[in-house]
Amino acid sequence: IPVDPFDLVIFGGTGDLARRKILPGLFRRFCAGQMPDDARVIGAARSEMTSQDYRDFVADAIREFCKPASFDDGQLEAFQTRLDYVTVDAKGDGGWPELGKLMEGRDVVRAYYFSVAPSLFGDLASRLHKWKLTSDQTRIVVEKPFGRDLATAKALNASLAEHFDEGQIYRIDHYLGKETVQNLMAVRFGNMLFEPLWNSQYVDHIQITVAETVGVGGRGEYYDRSGAMRDMVQNHLMQLLCLIAMEPPSKFDPDAVRDEKLKVIRALDPVAPHHVVRGQYDASSDGPSYREAVEDPRSRTESYVAMKVGISNWRWAGTPFYLRTGKRLVARSSEITVVFKELNHSIFGEKQDHRNTLSIRLQPNEGITLNVTIKEPGPGGMRLVDVPLDMSFADALGADAEEPPDAYERLIMDVIRGNQTLFMRGDEVEAAWAWTDPIIAGWEARGEVPKPYDSGSAGPGDAVQMLARDTRVWREVKP
Ligand code: BG6
Repeated sequence: IPVDPFDLVIFGGTGDLARRKILPGLFRRFCAGQMPDDARVIGAARSEMTSQDYRDFVADAIREFCKPASFDDGQLEAFQTRLDYVTVDAKGDGGWPELGKLMEGRDVVRAYYFSVAPSLFGDLASRLHKWKLTSDQTRIVVEKPFGRDLATAKALNASLAEHFDEGQIYRIDHYLGKETVQNLMAVRFGNMLFEPLWNSQYVDHIQITVAETVGVGGRGEYYDRSGAMRDMVQNHLMQLLCLIAMEPPSKFDPDAVRDEKLKVIRALDPVAPHHVVRGQYDASSDGPSYREAVEDPRSRTESYVAMKVGISNWRWAGTPFYLRTGKRLVARSSEITVVFKELNHSIFGEKQDHRNTLSIRLQPNEGITLNVTIKEPGPGGMRLVDVPLDMSFADALGADAEEPPDAYERLIMDVIRGNQTLFMRGDEVEAAWAWTDPIIAGWEARGEVPKPYDSGSAGPGDAVQMLARDTRVWREVKP
């Protein structure tokens, strides 16, 4: 789908996210012919640099983060001509008139990417307004963390709402930009096969796993104030939960989809303390412990969470959702598995435990596996065996699926197109905090210390026991 001409201003244009994701993503879209002739990218940050310095800075970022074989120098030079830079003071007046001059008289989409600390969102919004840099073609893009609890999220929403309508605010959750996450909706709502069975009558339980091998690395300071619950569960895992559990929206349109997601969040049960396991990774031969990484020998922040979640609505009452995510685990693997109920009667004699499962692998090896039961070959009678119907997107769809566009590429282009379907609405974010706040408050009130787990393992044993109490087992975390 073509996009309109645009000016994209990246506040924090020299920051890590800009370097790793936003600028390489824009360059890939440029190479794909998706950046119209009249589209420009303006870096804006505190550092003193010229537009030429910025062009060099961006070229370095692209050489570092884009595959060398995917572009040539000519493309890079052509992209550089689209770049400008202004030194801007988010808390003062410095640089704003210059930014205004750069954009003056251009009747194009104006997108402002706030790739800065959330404490600056309000300052930026009010200065854009003060310097009359907004129009009805203006959109702003904000990143997580969108607050650290309900009160701060509400305050952020209010400070943006002073100057922008909800229809102009694009809150990014990069999981929604992942090709395979969007595939969840395609699988559910593009097939006749699954939807009739997608309820508590047929589904025993659902598991959502987002396992990472990385530790907290250089982000210790941010992470130790957040923990896995705020960093991953409140946003990415809840979005996955919403997409897997929501009612079919009447159409694939921003508010129809977001209304249905919101209903799921509002139907979540409060979580009992014994339905949550928190963990913190130990040191191993190839890395420090969590506490060493964050330089706090007494840190009580969790790098792992597993939880049992109930949804009190007609479709899901009685079907638990088990969520888990953690750092320094055995493999990088994100997967959702729907475990169907056992047959209520077997015509093949003695009871055999066979169940259908549907696994959707989000990353890596994106694909879908449906486990079905068939007869074991041979003359030994009617013995049953479970076999996978296995599909990888790369095999089924060819080279394009091997390297799907990065989430940011897709999302930035959606901002320019003015499509909010894959962005979180303000009420959705607030509802998610309203659900996570009491869980976190409970840990704090009880002074809970997370359980240690071995780096490179599947997480703390308590998480295994939590499922064992329900006579269930976690899926193996495999690369
Ligand atoms: C980020 C979290 O939002 O998502 C990180 O802050 C996490 O802690 C990352 O590592 C995971 O993203 P992805 O795309 O690598 O699964």
